Amino acid sequence: MSENFDRPLAVIILAAGQGTRMKSSLPKVLHRIGGRSLIAHVLETAGALDPTDVVVVVRHERDLVAGAVLDIAPGVRVIDQDEIAGTGRAVQVALAELGDFTGDVLVLSGDVPLLEASALAHLVSTHRSAAAAVTVMSAVMDDATGYGRVIRDADGGVRRIVEQKDATADEAAVTEINAGVYVFRADSLRTHIGFVGVDNAQGEMYLTDMIGLLSGAGETVAASIASDAATTLGVNDRVQLAEAARILNARIVRRWQFEGATILDPATTWIDVTATLAPDVTVLPGSYILRSTSVAAGAVIGPDTSLVDCEIGENAIVTRTDATLAVIGADATVGPFAYLRPNTVLGAKGKIGTFVETKNSTIGEGSKVPHLSYIGDTAIGRGVNLGAGAITANYDDIAKHRTEIGDQVHTGSHNVFVAPVRIGAGAKTGAGAVIRKDVPAGALALSVAPQRNIEGWVEKNREGTAAAAAARAQGDEKTGHGTKDQEDGR
Ligand code: UD1
Ligand code: CA
Repeated sequence: MSENFDRPLAVIILAAGQGTRMKSSLPKVLHRIGGRSLIAHVLETAGALDPTDVVVVVRHERDLVAGAVLDIAPGVRVIDQDEIAGTGRAVQVALAELGDFTGDVLVLSGDVPLLEASALAHLVSTHRSAAAAVTVMSAVMDDATGYGRVIRDADGGVRRIVEQKDATADEAAVTEINAGVYVFRADSLRTHIGFVGVDNAQGEMYLTDMIGLLSGAGETVAASIASDAATTLGVNDRVQLAEAARILNARIVRRWQFEGATILDPATTWIDVTATLAPDVTVLPGSYILRSTSVAAGAVIGPDTSLVDCEIGENAIVTRTDATLAVIGADATVGPFAYLRPNTVLGAKGKIGTFVETKNSTIGEGSKVPHLSYIGDTAIGRGVNLGAGAITANYDDIAKHRTEIGDQVHTGSHNVFVAPVRIGAGAKTGAGAVIRKDVPAGALALSVAPQRNIEGWVEKNREGTAAAAAARAQGDEKTGHGTKDQEDGR
C-alpha cells in the first residue's frame, strides 16, 4: 500500500481543442473567469499537487496557448497534438512525452477550471488506496446535458463512459457524469491507449474509451463522486463560462467575508482571485475589485465602483468611481462619479470629488479637487483646494506638459492651468483665471478683465421683451417709481 502512495505523480492538461461552441476567435482555455484564464486556474491547481511533470497538450492556436501557458508556468512542457483528433489522442502524445515514467498520471481538462487541489488530492488518494488502474472523477448533475455518462454494472462497478452523442436513451438518462478528470497508473495507460479507436459519433479518439478498455481487461476501475458537483463544471459555451465565473466569484466573496469584509450583495460584487481585502472593509453593491487591487482596513467601496490594479488606503471612501492604477491614501474620499486614470496618487485625507477626472497626477495630503475638474500630468502639494471647474490644459497638440501647484494654494472657480505652468506655495487665483504664466509663492493671480456694466442696455436694445419688463419691474421696485406711477394714475 505505501508503495502506491510513494509513486510519483505527473499531470497532463488537455488544451488542444478549438472550443467551437464558444464561437470565439480567442481559444477557449484563454477565456477568463475571476481575472485569470481557464488554463491558468487549472495550472495553478495542478501546481499545488507538486507533480514531477506537467505536460500541456496544445494544437488550436498553439502559439497563443503555449505562450500563455509558459508565461504562467515556465516549468511545464508544452506538447503538440497532431491531426488525429480527440482527448484520447491528446493523452497519447502527452504520454509519449513522459517517456518511461512510472507512477500515476493525473489527466485534467483545460476547460474544467473550478476544481480545487484538495479535491484532486482526494481523487489521487482514492485511486491509490483502491490500487486502481484508473479512477475517474464523477459528479451527479441535475442537468447532465453535454457530459459523458458513467455507466455502472448491476453491482455498482464502473464499466465504461458513454458520450452524450453516442448514448442510448437509457444511458442518456444517467445523471452521474464524467468530470473529464482521471488518474491512471502510467503502465496501464501505456498498455491500452493504443487500442482506443475512432468508431463513434464524432470520429475522434475518446479518452473515455479507456474506462471500458481497462474494465474489459479485468483491471480495477474506480470512480470518485465529487462532493460538490458545481466544481466539476466544464466550460464549453458562453453560458457555462458565465456560470463558472459566478461560482468562482461566490467562492471568492465568501472567502473575504470569512476574513472579515462586509460584502452586502455577493451577486453584484465581482472580485478577482488576485485582489485582496483587509478586515472591516465594506463593499456596497455593483462593485468590481479587479486584478491586483488591495483594499485596506475600514475602507468603503461602492456602490457602483470599479477598481482595477488600485491600492486603497485605510478608511478611504470610494463611491461610484471608475479607477485604474490609482493609489488612494488613508481617510481620503473619492466620488461620487469620479474617473481616476493610471498613475493617480491621492494623499491621505485628500479628496477627488464629483465629476472629476484625473490622470498621471499626484494630489498631496489633505488636498482637494472637489468638483467638475480635469487634472492631468500634475503635481499638487499639501493642503491645496482647487475651486470648482479646475482644468489643466496639459496637451498643446504636440506634447503633454506638467502643472505644478505648491502647498496651501487655493484657486478660484473655473480656472484653466495652461501647462507647463507652476503655482508657488500659498498663492491664490481669481475666479475664471486662465493661468498661462507661473504664479510666484504668495501671489494673487488674476487674468480676467475687470467687469464693466452698461446700464439700461436691455431696455434700450430689447424693448418689449420679457427681460426688459422684468428689468424695469426690478428697477421700479428699487427706485419706488411704481408707487409714483400709481399716484399719477389716480
Ligand atoms: C469531455 C469528455 C466527457 C466529459 C467532459 C467533461 C471526452 C471524449 N469526453 O467532453 O466525457 O463529460 O469532457 O467536461 O473526453 N482536447 C484536446 N484535444 C482534442 C480534443 C479536446 O486537447 O483533440 C481538450 C480540449 O481543449 C478540452 C478538453 O480536451 O480542454 C475536453 O475537450 P472537449 O471537446 O471540451 O470535451 P467535452 O465534449 O466537454
Ligand atoms: Ca469540455
